[in-house]
Amino acid sequence: MCGIIGYIGKKNAVPLVIEGIKKLEYRGYDSVGFAVKTEQGIIIKKGVGKVDEVLSKLDFSEISGNTAVAHSRWATHGSVTQENAHPQMSSKGDIVVVHNGIIENYQALKQDLTNKGCTFTSETDTEVIPNLIQNEMDSGKEYIESVKSALKKLEGSYALLILNKNNNILIGARKESPLVVGFTEDGWFFASDIPSFLEHTKKVIYLHDGDLVIANDVFKIYNLDTGLEVKRKIATVEWDAEQAKKGVFEHFMMKEISEQAAIISNAVTQDMSKIKNVAETIKKARGVYFIACGSSYNACLSASYKFAKLAKVHVNVALASEFENYKDFLTPESLIIAVSQSGETADVLSAVKAAKEKKSRIISIINVMGSSLVRESDEFIMQNAGPEICVLATKSYTSQLVILTLLAYALADKLDYGVSKIKETVNHIYYLTSENTRNYIKDLAERLRYANHIYSIGRGLQYPTALEAALKIKEVSYIHAEGFAGGELKHGTIAMIEHGTPCIVFTSRETEKQIISNALELKARGAYIIGIGPNNNEVFDFFIKVREAEEANSICQIIPIQILAYQLAILRGCDPDYPKNLAKVVTVL
Ligand code: G6P
Repeated sequence: MCGIIGYIGKKNAVPLVIEGIKKLEYRGYDSVGFAVKTEQGIIIKKGVGKVDEVLSKLDFSEISGNTAVAHSRWATHGSVTQENAHPQMSSKGDIVVVHNGIIENYQALKQDLTNKGCTFTSETDTEVIPNLIQNEMDSGKEYIESVKSALKKLEGSYALLILNKNNNILIGARKESPLVVGFTEDGWFFASDIPSFLEHTKKVIYLHDGDLVIANDVFKIYNLDTGLEVKRKIATVEWDAEQAKKGVFEHFMMKEISEQAAIISNAVTQDMSKIKNVAETIKKARGVYFIACGSSYNACLSASYKFAKLAKVHVNVALASEFENYKDFLTPESLIIAVSQSGETADVLSAVKAAKEKKSRIISIINVMGSSLVRESDEFIMQNAGPEICVLATKSYTSQLVILTLLAYALADKLDYGVSKIKETVNHIYYLTSENTRNYIKDLAERLRYANHIYSIGRGLQYPTALEAALKIKEVSYIHAEGFAGGELKHGTIAMIEHGTPCIVFTSRETEKQIISNALELKARGAYIIGIGPNNNEVFDFFIKVREAEEANSICQIIPIQILAYQLAILRGCDPDYPKNLAKVVTVL
């Protein structure tokens, strides 16, 4: 949650952080703010709304400076107001901070600072940070020492950028929230993620927890606990700046949906040694636990069916936020497979840390190189889906499914067959994302745009797809949607079915008979049935053909629903890339 970016160097920092914060908007878009260090002091401008909305009201024409920071907010402490937007400043006005994370002990710190004479103008937890630093300086410490002592008093998580009106130093610090440094010939970027500065450099340092970076004429990293200088490796990013742009598409969501065929094709033509090694580790483990959130969880649930069916391997699947309940069963022989696009989801990281305390082995499947989860893992497999900017998981979900399906085939000693099965889907996925199919699905979207509820059902492998379908529809179109196992709807929710209630029914060769019976039960109560699968049936009012692909059905069948969700969002006037109240990277528990 929240995106931060800063630049210090020879160039005018203002356009660089404006451009950068636009690319970080997916991390939070309640409000946005900027601070620029100028000869007249630090100028702060901020407002409520999305970046473009706020920028249209701010005038930067007269402002330039070589150091600036920016922030896009996803509110945690304090409502969405101008006062609560970042940057936050100390009450004396010397220190300015942008922050991603949560300061858990802020109430006690705020009380103490108030007793010492500080005044607070926001409801945020962040505002204690500049005031703590200022307070340390007032007690006679020099600036950097003041920052160090202040940070040591903070409990919780932070990625921070700090400015001081009396010098030209940009300080960055991280603890359990992401912060990456980008190196250019003319200066340094600090940001929550790489696409925000990818246009300018591919050379990065992934900061570690406890790192404190001081950048002015020189660049130094210190460890906050030891106070000693540390060296970090400069890595080269493989992503390309073009991948983080919309190109010919109006929205990232449709661009990312359309990229899926190419991503899947790459995934099955890569070296399979990693998949084979991880499959061997799974075989040796005593107790396998998948942990994930949101769409990544649905991908894990799908994998658990494939592991069972293809390889007769039992795995536990836990929502990362519920993993606590399994803790007592963990041993050094247990294997955790953490699946996370961002590698920064707080619930996943916290579950992984709990497992590490029991010395369990951690393997992660991630899309963002250098993310915190990579550092917490013994091994990892990259999804290689490229940057996913839209808040909704589309290509990252199917790329997780590809890896997990390959793992299931590898466990069953049928990897070559699995690779060929997934390869066969690529052309069909091109077709499913083509303009023809999109236009066909548009008719359905027109039909469903005023629906109050949409239900989706599937059996076996189609059950996780039904869950993911409902998630896609509700998070982007705000139509209430729920997914169920085919046999389950009649145990309660069937009471909601009225004349015309849309129900999506996922079928496959294996589950066809039973799921059609469930569809008939719904139809008998007036439901409007949308069939997705290999064969049309008279029970369907609308049918989208998706060729039978066995275990790869889950990869193909979700695609028409991703498109439907996108079209519903457009028809209902919702922004598909930035749905309300959501953030792509959820760094709070
Ligand atoms: C957020 C996103 C979802 C995503 C979930 C898990 O809620 O909006 O799209 O599925 O986080 O994210 P992860 O990065 O761990 O896969």
